[in-house]
This record gives sequence, C-alpha cells and structure tokens, in this order.
Amino acid sequence: MTGFTTVAYIAAAVLFILSLAGLSKQESAKRGNLFGIIGMSIALVATLFNSEVHGKFWLLLAMAIGAVIGLQRAKKVEMTGMPQLIALLHSFVGLAAVFVGYNSLLLHADLPAEMHTIHLAEVFLGVFIGAITFTGSLVAWGKLEGKVKSAALVLPHKHKWNIAAVAVSFLLMLIFIAKDGSMFLLILMTLIAFAFGWHLVMSIGGADMPVVVSMLNSYSGWAAAAAGFMLNNDLLIVTGALVGSSGAILSYIMCKAMNRSFLSVILGGFGNTAAAAEESGGEYREWTVEEVAEALNEADSIIITPGYGMAVAQAQYPVAEITRILRAKGKNVRFGIHPVAGRLPGHMNVLLAEAKVPYDIVLEMEEINEDFPDTDVVLVIGANDTVNPSAQTDPNSPIAGMPVLEVWKARQVVGFKRSMNAGYAGVQNPLFFNENTFMCFGDAKTTVEGILRALQN
Ligand code: TAP
Repeated sequence: MTGFTTVAYIAAAVLFILSLAGLSKQESAKRGNLFGIIGMSIALVATLFNSEVHGKFWLLLAMAIGAVIGLQRAKKVEMTGMPQLIALLHSFVGLAAVFVGYNSLLLHADLPAEMHTIHLAEVFLGVFIGAITFTGSLVAWGKLEGKVKSAALVLPHKHKWNIAAVAVSFLLMLIFIAKDGSMFLLILMTLIAFAFGWHLVMSIGGADMPVVVSMLNSYSGWAAAAAGFMLNNDLLIVTGALVGSSGAILSYIMCKAMNRSFLSVILGGFGNTAAAAEESGGEYREWTVEEVAEALNEADSIIITPGYGMAVAQAQYPVAEITRILRAKGKNVRFGIHPVAGRLPGHMNVLLAEAKVPYDIVLEMEEINEDFPDTDVVLVIGANDTVNPSAQTDPNSPIAGMPVLEVWKARQVVGFKRSMNAGYAGVQNPLFFNENTFMCFGDAKTTVEGILRALQN
C-alpha cells in the first residue's frame, strides 16, 4: 500500500469513528452523517488511485450503476420502509463477503505454507458469516416487507438444528484446512450457512424484529471485516469491526429496553406468535369521530400514544393540529412515546417534530407511564403492540415482559385502526375489547381529520 493510501485510510477510519459518535445523539446526527459521507468518499477515491488496484474501468462502472440504483431507492423510500431497505443492504454485504471468499480462495493458492493456513481459515469464516448474513437479511427483508409471515417459525428441535449447523461447519473448516482448501467443502459449508441464516431469522417473531435488524447489522460488519482480512485491506477491517461492534452494542441496548435476553433473541426468539394470534377477544365498542371530539371537549387531560399506523397514514399533521386546538382550550395534552413505536427507534419523535409538535409535550414511556391513571382520554393512534396489556398479564404471550404504555389505566381509551387485526407481533390486543375502550375505525389520517373538523365546528 502506498503512503498516500495509508494516510487516506487512516483519515477515513477516524471520520467513521467521528460519524458513529455524531450519530449517537439527535442534535449531532446530521454532522455524524456528513463525517460518514466524507470518510467514505475519501476511502473510495484512495482505492481508485491505489496503484495496486487493477480493473479500474470495471470498478468505476460498478460504482456508477450502484450509485444510480442507490440514489433512486434512497429518494423513494418512506421512513416506514427504512428497516426493509437496511435489511436488503445488509444482504448485499453478506453476499459480497461470500464472493470475496471464493475469489480469494481461487487467487491465493500460492501463499507460503504458514500464511496459507491462516488464509484458508479467513476464507472459511468470511464465507460462513457472509452466507448467514445474506439469507438472514433476506428473510428479515421479507418479514418486514410483509412477503414472509412475521410469526416465528417453530421447527421441532430448532435449537438442535442450529447447534448441528455450527458444529458441522466447524468440522468442515478443520477438514477444509487439512485438505488445503477443497472447493467442494467450501460449497457444502456455504449451503449449510445459507440454511442456518434462513432458519435463525425465520424462527424470530415480529416483536423481536428490531433487535434482529440491528443484529444483522452487526453480522454484516463482521462479514466486511472478514472480507478486509481476505483482501488485506486495513480500512475494511477497521470499518467492519466498527459496524460489527456498534451493531452488537445496539442490539444489547435494544434487548434491555424491551426486557429481552440477548441470547434468546439470537437463538430463535420467544414462543410461537402464530398460536397466540388466533385467540381473539369478543365484543368491542365503536365511536364516531363526532363522539371522539365530544369526549375530547369534555376531557381535561389527554395523552396521545402514536404508533406505526400514524406513520403509514401520515396522520401526524392533523394530530398536531388537534393538539394545538385542544391546548388552546386549556387542556393538558401530551404524547407518550414507546421506545420501539413505529418501525425504527425515534421514528415517532421525528414525525412529531416534522409536524411541529412542541418537544416538551413529547414524553418517553417511563416519563409518562405513571400518569395514565389520572388521564381522562388516551388516543391510541395506529399503535398496537406497544399498548398491549398482555405483555404484563400473559406470561405465554410472545411479547411477555416487553415494557408497554399502560394506557388501559386511563378513564377512556380511543383506538384508531382500520380493523380488529393484530399488531406487528401477530398477537391480539385485549385493550381494544375493554369496557372503557372505544374503537374509531378507518385510515388514521381520515379519522383524525374528521375529529379536527368536528373540533373546529
Ligand atoms: P403495530 O403493533 O405494528 O401496530 C400498528 C397498528 O396500526 C396496527 O394494528 C394496524 O391495525 C394499524 N394501522 C396500520 N395502518 C393504519 C392506517 N393507515 N390507519 C390506521 N391504523 C393503521 O405498531 P406499534 O404499536 O407502533 O408497535 C411497533 C411494533 O413494531 C412492535 O411490535 C415492535 O417490536 C415492532 N418494531 C419493528 C421494528 C422493525 S425493525 N421491524 C422496529 C421497531 C418496532 P389495522 O391493520 O387494523 O389498521
């Protein structure tokens, strides 16, 4: 590597670290993003000008095609679609690591003996992690996009299958090294790792998907680091390690926030969401938009708990308008935000900020949970799992133990949904069948706009 490339790679690595630091806080996130962009641009330019890199035309062509597709996708993607896009991008990292592994095995057959053994182990591990990341991320994409059922797949002896896949792959690695890099064994292991990745994510239920996406983020980092070893590229090793470890830390933090055991999620989730989804709850009561407006007019204290449905309906603007009117009438209106409401951590906060809802009335779950018993009306707008009391009452529920907004303790609750269908985790919500809960059916934007009109009249 030339001096120029080394310096450029160090600068890029420092910028990536600054980028991660910036992204850890909302106020500095934009700056963090910028550091990341500059770092990546430096890395790309340095690689292009590296005299050891051949086939620059192909490199530029691939970059141009990738840039066009990437820009198109990034422009079009809705915020609710971000996790899917991220999952898809992780699958590319995994597949790239697989290709790099095969390529590296074919290219470096003539290394000195002691290097050769290390190289073979790098290839094997790189392909293993990459293949798991590839199929795992594709399944995650399918589940998030609604193409694969989000309920957990429960195969008989599922943990034994996983252990067997790891044990057999380890054995194959030993033989692979002893046999001086047999292509057949590498292909065999790749197939096992593909199936392993598929099974790992298939057996994780909808409610645990946030952790899975961040876990796959971590895997994609380790896959990139493995590719860095194979390509002898220090920057790729550093970047991969940064992504791998930050993803692992994030997964751990998310597990703690959702009261989950990290290991249990990684090893195939909790119980069978499909079974739980079937039991449903009996009679429910309905309110028209005028009746909701009347209840709001009579209330003194109101809490709004938004969820994914508010985001897809883009109902945050009329919600902000209602908030303004009610506050002008002297009512205490606040928002309760669950840590995983919507499809990304911080999703609701960004939408409400966009609609100019004042920051100081948007409270985190732990800040507001105690206030529900003293609240007159709670508006549950397109949220479901995050307000499900069975997390506290039913130890067999797939969301058992997950912290929830205790909205059922309020005097009256209004549920905004289009139907009585289950939420993302695939479990029915008994809240919507409570005596003090009233359903206001329809697209959240339409119903909230109806309430807005009724309030204005
Ligand atoms: P959900 O449990 O998904 O509930 C959203 C509700 O909104 C649904 O029950 C749906 O009911 C309703 N809805 C959908 N479109 C609507 C529309 N246009 N108008 C009105 N209602 C609409 O959402 P939540 O409470 O925010 O919970 C978040 C869930 O997502 C948790 O399970 C969490 O673990 C998971 N999560 C996943 C990720 C990733 S990465 N995938 C990230 C964070 C959270 P209808 O179909 O009856 O309308």
